[in-house]
Amino acid sequence: MLYSKLAKPYFFRMDPEKAHHMVIDGLHTASRVPGIPALMRGMYGVPEAKELEVDLFGLHFAHPIGLAAGLDKNAKAVDMFANIGFGFAEVGTVTPKGQIGNDLPRLFRLPSDEALINRMGFNNEGAAAMAARLAQDTNRRIPIAVNIGKNKTTPNELAHEDYRACLQALYTYGDFFVVNISSPNTPDLRALQHGDELRLLLSTVMEEMAVQAKKNGGTRKAVLVKIAPDMTDEQLGYTVDTIKASGVNGIIATNTTISRDGLQHLNAKETGGLSGKPLKDRSTEVIREVYRQTGGKLPIIGSGGIFTAADAYDKIRAGASLVEIYTALIYRGPELLRELADGLKDALRRDGFKSIHEAVGADHRS
Ligand SMILES: Cc1cc2nc3c(=O)[nH]c(=O)nc-3n(C[C@H](O)[C@H](O)[C@H](O)COP(=O)(O)O)c2cc1C
Repeated sequence: MLYSKLAKPYFFRMDPEKAHHMVIDGLHTASRVPGIPALMRGMYGVPEAKELEVDLFGLHFAHPIGLAAGLDKNAKAVDMFANIGFGFAEVGTVTPKGQIGNDLPRLFRLPSDEALINRMGFNNEGAAAMAARLAQDTNRRIPIAVNIGKNKTTPNELAHEDYRACLQALYTYGDFFVVNISSPNTPDLRALQHGDELRLLLSTVMEEMAVQAKKNGGTRKAVLVKIAPDMTDEQLGYTVDTIKASGVNGIIATNTTISRDGLQHLNAKETGGLSGKPLKDRSTEVIREVYRQTGGKLPIIGSGGIFTAADAYDKIRAGASLVEIYTALIYRGPELLRELADGLKDALRRDGFKSIHEAVGADHRS
């Protein structure tokens, strides 16, 4: 109510990227004002519900709805994402060195399609700056995933060393990690999803995860790979096989798409990754296919076009253990989180499931 009636009309009159920075900086500042975090929890927090809890990757998630990567690229507002009701949050994509990203403008709204197009290009302050921020975050309420990538100037032959450097800087601070090889806005990044390049990348990542686990003590933290929705079935098959063989803990399906099918808004001509409603069905299809190919043995986080509880539930039934949102947060605001959680509880009850866990991949068994 508060968001749709007051904040959204104000933000939607502004340049999209300015609005974005204002939100992140605002949340960052608000998290330091006494009383505001508790107020936010009261207004937006999602009440605990046993049936929504998920235990995965050695971590506890109070409910399965998280924040997707890209909104909080520098881990400035992790506390506030917990306060407004997220079950977990992904920060980044972070690269070893800070970089400014692509030229402005690079973020576009397509309201009539309930979508966004972005070509940000991994603008971020770098791994050391993120590590310093996360080090101050001593009262963590939700699991935080760190999404890592490569600098634009690093050639693909050396990309694996960028991912290694991110893990070296950030292993201590993330609860789990995401290897992003699916953004369409870093030239050739998506080539890392295939063949020998993917094998080398994932073996380096797993090697470094083992080194860091030994150094830090305790069991190795989980690492997932985030894939694009634009692969052919054959490419997806090979990619999933390689991911399976690498020993990583899961897959995030999917990143934004380069497809422009079915769009009405004039901004459809902009280059970049398309997110939101038009991505919903394709990302669910990819989740379904990955679950089928892995026999449900490799956990999936579903991302792409979730606006309603039914959208989230479709992804869970197709095979996702957790889901993430980004674009719907911009269009609907934090009110959406309670709505999604309540709707998921209703859907579980309707289908006779006692937990999210029972519903994961249910479509494959009916
Ligand atoms: C402006 C913007 C920036 C994004 N930046 C990243 C990023 O840095 N890394 C990443 O893995 N995904 C990034 N994404 C993709 C989202 O994490 C998510 O996978 C995608 O938007 C699909 O979900 P949605 O339809 O709920 O937005 C970005 C998306 C948007 C809209």
